[in-house]
Amino acid sequence: MKRPFKRILYGGDYNPNQWGKEVWKEDMRIFKDARINSATINVFSWAKIQPSEDTYNFTELDEVIAMLSQENYDIVLATSTAALPAWMVKRYPEVARTDYEGRHHKFGQRHNACPNSLVFQKFASRLAGKLAERYGNNPHVTCWHLSNEYGGECYCENCEKAFRVWLREKYQTLDELNKAWNTEFWGHTIYDWDEVVLPDALGDGIEDAAEPHMTAFAGLSIDYCRFNSDGMLNNFKMDKEAIRKFDKETPITTNMMGTFKGLDYFKWAREMDIVSWDNYPRYDTPWSYTALRNDLMRGLKDAPFMLMEQTPSQQNWQKYNSLKRPGQMRAQSYQTLARGGDTIQFFQLRRSKGACEKFHGAVIAHVGTEDTRVFREVRQLGTELEKLGDAIPGSVNEAEVGIVFDWDNYWALEYTSGPSEDLTYVDQIQQYYQYFYDRNIAVHMIPCDADFGRYKMVVAPVLYMIKEGVKEALEEFVSQGGVLVTTYMSGIVDQSDNVYLGGYPGPLRTLAGVWVEEIDALSPMQSNEVIFGDGTKASCGLLCELMHLEGAECLARYGQDFYKDMPAAVKNRYGKGITYYIGTRMEEGLAKILESAAADAAVKPVLEGTDGLEIVCRKADGCSFYFIINFGDEAKQVPSALVGHMEMLTEETVKPGDMLAKYDVKIVRVE
Ligand code: GLA
Ligand code: ZN
Repeated sequence: MKRPFKRILYGGDYNPNQWGKEVWKEDMRIFKDARINSATINVFSWAKIQPSEDTYNFTELDEVIAMLSQENYDIVLATSTAALPAWMVKRYPEVARTDYEGRHHKFGQRHNACPNSLVFQKFASRLAGKLAERYGNNPHVTCWHLSNEYGGECYCENCEKAFRVWLREKYQTLDELNKAWNTEFWGHTIYDWDEVVLPDALGDGIEDAAEPHMTAFAGLSIDYCRFNSDGMLNNFKMDKEAIRKFDKETPITTNMMGTFKGLDYFKWAREMDIVSWDNYPRYDTPWSYTALRNDLMRGLKDAPFMLMEQTPSQQNWQKYNSLKRPGQMRAQSYQTLARGGDTIQFFQLRRSKGACEKFHGAVIAHVGTEDTRVFREVRQLGTELEKLGDAIPGSVNEAEVGIVFDWDNYWALEYTSGPSEDLTYVDQIQQYYQYFYDRNIAVHMIPCDADFGRYKMVVAPVLYMIKEGVKEALEEFVSQGGVLVTTYMSGIVDQSDNVYLGGYPGPLRTLAGVWVEEIDALSPMQSNEVIFGDGTKASCGLLCELMHLEGAECLARYGQDFYKDMPAAVKNRYGKGITYYIGTRMEEGLAKILESAAADAAVKPVLEGTDGLEIVCRKADGCSFYFIINFGDEAKQVPSALVGHMEMLTEETVKPGDMLAKYDVKIVRVE
């Protein structure tokens, strides 16, 4: 495989097909000035390169590739299969999707193909193959980019048939299927495979549910999610195979979307050579959110990733598309690099003049020159990245803490009916992540089947679904001395969303040393409080679990309501390790418990005494690269531990008292 990249890829989505050739020349000149060395091309050109069923026309693409090769670009070559050409939908209506409401779509939009249409599959993989045959040997083609932001669902008849096949493979017998979905409930027994229908609004969909695609049978909904994720992954694999016939070497990716719910990204990552993703925070997105998503993208393969897209400044599809403030894009880029990014790519290089993205930020604005604030910031960053050279790509992030993120749990927790519609998956994970983020304690985002033994501490909030093997793996981890933190709504169901009978938290009951008898849901207007052993009080809400100690030590009790004095958070010794079980959502109170857990596990921040700065470390060949970013409003001092070491962007030695203003970044190299 051609990786890691020899330099930091710096560029982004480039659509010269939207412009005349005189503009291309100007582009090359301006991009060079910004030290742009990479372009992602051919993302939405299917209609251009295949104008009809039997004709392909690569003339213009040949020219674009020749021009970029001449300029020594690293080309990220997309397959164009994310938007169907009009002729195809007209001739083969089945390639379009049927939505949740049962409406079959016409030509229009993008990300719009039925993943189970054999016609679509045939045309898509044929195109991928043709591209690989033509360009796979070009040494400038550095990466393949399949389709674009896979996602969405289809509820057409072809998908329904494919779903039945998928279920048959999974369950083998109808008996098993009926058991898994608990179909005795509401007399939903299935007697023939073709009685199975997709969980859409015409089928088992619950109208007005909090979650748009929730159904009366969570087991069915979750299986549909798995099936849909597998179906699109199958599209990915088919196109990948078509490419591999001609090009065995070049890494293959597709651009992911952080905590996007629709696809099981851990499963996808196993098929991808390198992960890439699109980072579009809103004007008010906390930096800890983008940090988590970067860590998650690194976690998918436990390896560096590509930042496929971010905007140099403005968005167009958010509610309020504010400008990135001076320095903000640079700081965001270094945050990505710090957390495992090996590339910085923009959407897009030149702002389009028509259609729905004409107000989307770009390296070259509508004015068409390099004389803009945004361009100057892009150039500054480009110059710096060029200076960093090949030091960063391929270097690794280490962590003593693993936080579990799992798509089955994501789906299950949100498709289950009750106990609270405010119980959303990512928000719970984010809250626990925040504790470590605030203290610069490095974490890895890990799947349920990770090797827990690599960590001192494993944090598994709302581990609602315990799949096969997870109980045993967690018990092994704790018994060997690990510290596990888990929470309310954990250990409740099996992989089909059927409850583990015999008392919550089911398989985790021994590990946690508690029995949860009832789960109270509090509205946003309501709260309770917890009282810690030392008398401190903190408010709590969302869910309050009513638990009984079964060997655990109580850390905090409820302060109010009929369950006043019952345990709200506990700690339980198990083998050589400890489990913390937190039965309610606290805001300030949580830090107190996590502090104790982190102390038990002896996990340490990347550097001591670094309040208010974001500090992340990447390592390579005996070298540590400390990324220090100030996302706060106040200027902050560079941590004293780094004094005397070389700052890579300025190539100056860090002196005592060196400061970072808002959005300042330093990368300090320690041998
Ligand atoms: C996504 C897509 C791009 C573009 C950007 C705009 O990430 O992949 O094609 O539409 O959004 O933000
Ligand atoms: Zn379909």
